[in-house]
Amino acid sequence: MKALILSGGKGTRLRPLTYTGAKQLVPVANKPILWYGLEAIAASGITDIGIVISPETGEEVKAKTGNGERFGVNITYILQEQPAGLAHAVKISQSFLGDAPFVMYLGDNLVQGGLGALVDKFKSQPLDALILLCSVANPTAFGVAKVDEQGRVLQLVEKPKVPPSNLALVGVYLFSPLIHEAIASIQPSARGELEITDAIQELINRGQGVAAHQLQGWWLDTGKKDDLLEANRVILDSYVETVNQGFVDENSQVIGRVTIGKGTQIINSTVRGPVIIGDNCHIENCFIGPYSSIASDVKLLHADLEHSVLLQGAQVCNVHQRIVDSLIGQRAKVVEAPRRPKALRFMVGDDSQVELI
Ligand code: TTP
Repeated sequence: MKALILSGGKGTRLRPLTYTGAKQLVPVANKPILWYGLEAIAASGITDIGIVISPETGEEVKAKTGNGERFGVNITYILQEQPAGLAHAVKISQSFLGDAPFVMYLGDNLVQGGLGALVDKFKSQPLDALILLCSVANPTAFGVAKVDEQGRVLQLVEKPKVPPSNLALVGVYLFSPLIHEAIASIQPSARGELEITDAIQELINRGQGVAAHQLQGWWLDTGKKDDLLEANRVILDSYVETVNQGFVDENSQVIGRVTIGKGTQIINSTVRGPVIIGDNCHIENCFIGPYSSIASDVKLLHADLEHSVLLQGAQVCNVHQRIVDSLIGQRAKVVEAPRRPKALRFMVGDDSQVELI
């Protein structure tokens, strides 16, 4: 069995970060989102993994992730010239996939509980597709499945106005090589993409075995800022450990589960976990509240923040109001004048959001 991780796409919902980087490399709890999927696939025993990349961000994904050695797998990178849909990504990966069955994993999704049970279920039954479903409150925003009592999938609908169920398609699919024939016979949708839901519907129409597995744990699609913050909250809640490889002075308090990286200095500050802080950060006269992830090389002076993600090299200095629910990009600076300002001065990139609340 092989695996195909989709790490191309446009990432429009995560602009402006995706103008300069791949959304799959945005960190959750200081680890690229993509790596959670890679680790889950490796843990299920699959070692032959293709990663679909785009011309814009592919080099960055390659440079960061490498040949797979650190995950104990072999990675083959596959260039998709245009983000022409999930089924298109499979189509251009045919020479890598050959006639092997495979797991398809969306590189910006996080799924609790690993893939082992799903892979075992697929191997033990004569199926052509096994899809992972999760019960959601707002099914109109997702691909939705209608399933019978035996777990057979009867129908798939993309973003239905009247949903046939509340079971959304999670970004993990298992396919036999028959999926390639189904993809060859579908046409692009109204939004101009080759849809994987249409290809699976084609399998259903041909009477092939298409089954569903219902996810019991959480599933997070990190495509938007608030989803990313939620993923960060869930991962910090579950996994962060108490580790201090840095320096905390005697005027500081570190409470609860907090990971502090090498070379990081915490001076006259309070950090209340769960929080993760990378290497070589300088944090002085600050309050860092729960559910914050601070990447390496970040500088925080007189700052008060919680439930936020700061990327590498970001700086927040002399901001006396609390910063909440925020995502601050690499090397971005948020600085307030020493006295209460009479005016605000910005240099804000395209598609940025600044909320003065
Ligand atoms: P989406 O999040 O559905 O699409 P997108 O990345 O274009 O994002 P947005 O809607 O914000 O513009 O894609 C799911 C995953 O699949 C994501 O990791 C990107 C990847 N993908 C590809 O690799 N190739 C594609 O053609 C598409 C559409 C997505």
